[in-house]
Amino acid sequence: MSTDPSQDKGPDLTQGVTIESLVDGRMLVGRVGEDAVLLARRGDEFFAIGAECSHYHGPLAEGLMIGDTVRCPWHHACFSLRTGEALHAPALSPVECWTTEVREGKVVVRGKAALKQDKAAASAAGAPQKIVIVGGGAAGFAAAEMLRRQRYQGSIVMLSDDDALPVDRPNLSKDYLAGTAAEDWVPLRAADFYTEHRIDLRLKTRVAGLDARARELELGDRSKLAFDRLLLATGAEPVRLAIPGIDLPHVHTLRTLADCRAIIARAATARCAVVMGASFIGLEVAASLRARGIEVHVVAPERRPMERVLGPELGDFVRRLHEEHGVVFHLEDTARAIDAQHVALNGGGTLAADLVVVGVGVRPRLALAEAAGLAVDRGVTVDAYLETSAPGIYAAGDIARWPDPHSGAAIRVEHWVVAQRQGQTAALNMLGGQEKFEAVPFFWSQHYDVPINYVGHAESWDELAIDGDIAARDCTVRYKRQGRVLALASIYRDAESLMAEVAMEQDAVQLRG
Ligand SMILES: Cc1cc2nc3c(=O)[nH]c(=O)nc-3n(C[C@H](O)[C@H](O)[C@H](O)COP(=O)(O)OP(=O)(O)OC[C@H]3O[C@@H](n4cnc5c(N)ncnc54)[C@H](O)[C@@H]3O)c2cc1C
Ligand code: FES
Repeated sequence: MSTDPSQDKGPDLTQGVTIESLVDGRMLVGRVGEDAVLLARRGDEFFAIGAECSHYHGPLAEGLMIGDTVRCPWHHACFSLRTGEALHAPALSPVECWTTEVREGKVVVRGKAALKQDKAAASAAGAPQKIVIVGGGAAGFAAAEMLRRQRYQGSIVMLSDDDALPVDRPNLSKDYLAGTAAEDWVPLRAADFYTEHRIDLRLKTRVAGLDARARELELGDRSKLAFDRLLLATGAEPVRLAIPGIDLPHVHTLRTLADCRAIIARAATARCAVVMGASFIGLEVAASLRARGIEVHVVAPERRPMERVLGPELGDFVRRLHEEHGVVFHLEDTARAIDAQHVALNGGGTLAADLVVVGVGVRPRLALAEAAGLAVDRGVTVDAYLETSAPGIYAAGDIARWPDPHSGAAIRVEHWVVAQRQGQTAALNMLGGQEKFEAVPFFWSQHYDVPINYVGHAESWDELAIDGDIAARDCTVRYKRQGRVLALASIYRDAESLMAEVAMEQDAVQLRG
């Protein structure tokens, strides 16, 4: 048997592959030296870019090629095949790009191409001088990054009442909490990124007020900060339960890096944990604590975990999956009180707990927008361009309720990728663009080795169509209303998830006529 590691990476693309071996619209993986390279064909054009997604190293060759772009199978980032640019979050960094040439019936990959900076500097007359972003999370960071990617030359001030650099928040309930991701995975960028890109990131800085007319913010120390364009990206905060003992030191919520570190510190000596809430975050926390060898009990009022979002079949699957890993559920029950070593349940039981994590949902942080008199309707109301009722003030992420062209409703979601993409769209529009936010919502959740991807948005459905075998972890679940697919959840069916996303995009175009 061959043990040559280069064999695993496919053909040597510097030697070329025959044109016939690459069908139009297809991709293959080969190597250029030590690099794994994706070679793609579109008509008579050939493209070569890095084969691994710059988000979490997803295999791009298993993704979907659409025109001169490729979408990652894992979390639907999108890259330009021409330049390697990360066109859609969650990837924010480009992948490398190589030049190709056709020679004697073969396509040959040549040297690395420099990343094209073909964007005009966005500093023309009329561009805003001062852009301020309130929020150092998914939307705020993606906006700042996109502003500089567009070669915006003016001032960017980013205000965050957190004490940490913008972090990869989804990781806080998954690998980082489980102890399987290193500390340096957590920040979205190192501190010098902000200096190099002239992003004036001010941590531990609370914004206390907004005067929309005067275009001015009031900070926690009562100082004022003027802006030409403003992005509100204040995110959400965990709901706190009003029960005795909720303020005890071993009772935690999870939103920030500090929250996560506090749970990890407690987990070092904890033997039994109670997780309140069978939400995505609650159950991801349960899985991560199990990875640390802690006994975990989940207490939640619903009959099945995640039934409201995923339906009964996937809900039952998720429950079984966690039970197989030793999690004990106490469903249709709630906590009545907490003391130093126990959680008392309304159903009469008592659970031992030297660590309690409360994951019972979040509330969007709307106070600033409300006090400033912006239109608010269970979220900050924005138009298709993500502009609020106050001209020049935009909102993105967990706080924004936008007119979703796919469901035809104004929706607000709490998804990482949506927040980042909205931040990117808001950035373009703050620079004078006219870009509608039309992305199909997407989120993922990870439980042990099982990823669940969800594309679309279905608050309710009249038909649920299962294809494949949920127990075998190979399935799609389509949520339909009047025959129309509103959303699709999938386990290990990434190509179908991507194709559903594209179908929903096309569907929305047809609906608009
Ligand atoms: C543990 C965890 C795991 C998650 N996992 C997933 C996942 O797997 N998949 C998924 O799709 N989504 C996931 N999410 C949800 C996702 O992280 C959020 O939808 C996303 O972070 C929202 O981005 P945002 O920019 O709106 O808000 P945030 O990322 O919360 O950022 C808000 C920022 O605003 C700042 N801020 C708020 N108010 C003020 C103020 N008055 N002054 C100054 N600063 C202020 C905050 O400090 C923070 O920096 C997870 C969330 C958590 C907490
Ligand atoms: S690994 Fe590619 S989008 Fe996450």
